[in-house]
Amino acid sequence: MKLICAIVKTEKIDDLRQKLFEMGAPGITVQNVMGIGKPLGHLRYSESHGFVPKFFAGTRVEIVAEDEQVDEIVDTITSVCRTGEVGDGKVFVWPVERVVRVRTGEKGKDALY
Ligand SMILES: Nc1ncnc2c1ncn2[C@@H]1O[C@H](COP(=O)(O)OP(=O)(O)OP(=O)(O)O)[C@@H](O)[C@H]1O
Ligand SMILES: [Mg+2]
Repeated sequence: MKLICAIVKTEKIDDLRQKLFEMGAPGITVQNVMGIGKPLGHLRYSESHGFVPKFFAGTRVEIVAEDEQVDEIVDTITSVCRTGEVGDGKVFVWPVERVVRVRTGEKGKDALY
């Protein structure tokens, strides 16, 4: 199993939620975040620190899925969220060691669906 973590533009979240739901993603967690990618051209001046990179608001999306679903989920995220402009976002994939459904105690794949 893998954790797919994507930081994307907030305005893409409704479309992304719909596409992920249609393709049968097992679950989705989102949170609004602040972050910095390549800061070039986005410096702001601070009295205390001089020129510093600016934080941008975005939305972080997390999905834990079986390995076989990862490529399709990553492709869905990139196709929904790509405008071609800088700042479209980034996707990270991590291995997941353990999943437990709290209500039943089911583990692993059984806990995902
Ligand atoms: N290496 C990273 N580690 C952690 N978070 C990152 C990293 N790169 C990007 N992010 C997060 O993703 C958000 C969007 O990144 P962004 O799309 O600007 O990436 P980029 O590499 O600068 O690509 P682009 O050239 O398209 O702007 C950032 O604001 C930050 O929250
Ligand atoms: Mg950037």
